Amino acid sequence: MKIPVIANGDIDTPEKAAFVLRATSADGLMIGRAAQGNPWIFRQIAHFLATGEKLAPPPVTEVRDTLLDHLDTLYAFYGEYSGVHMARKHISWYSKGLRDGAAFRHRVNQVETGEAQVAMVREFFDGQAQAMELAA
Ligand SMILES: Cc1cc2nc3c(=O)[nH]c(=O)nc-3n(C[C@H](O)[C@H](O)[C@H](O)COP(=O)(O)O)c2cc1C
Repeated sequence: MKIPVIANGDIDTPEKAAFVLRATSADGLMIGRAAQGNPWIFRQIAHFLATGEKLAPPPVTEVRDTLLDHLDTLYAFYGEYSGVHMARKHISWYSKGLRDGAAFRHRVNQVETGEAQVAMVREFFDGQAQAMELAA
């Protein structure tokens, strides 16, 4: 075919990305759900395709800063009321798998202002960073 072909669907790890590219000879990949809360998947896949090695997950401080930028963008684009509501699912995705994440999500889903949401996100991720430093 002369048009570029993009393979898509259920690609959620660098290994799957490599497998799909090999199996389909597609020109590129498109990632949907696996990028939600993990925008680092693109560099993780690129690194794996280039080197065959897996990149470490991003430090929790980078996750915090990326999420805080994302929140600002959501408030600016959707307005504070819709932005705060829309942000809840993103906060859930970014905090998936972190310690005390379920209790945090329950608390953060109650707040109705951007200021309170940002403060709670910052506090949670700063706590994660501190706990990881202590454990190291
Ligand atoms: C948040 C979100 C929005 C999407 N919006 C569209 C869309 O507007 N049009 C479309 O054709 N597919 C849309 N899709 C489907 C994706 O393009 C993709 O085909 C699907 O998510 C399967 O890929 P995945 O397994 O990597 O998520 C959307 C998917 C997600 C997760």
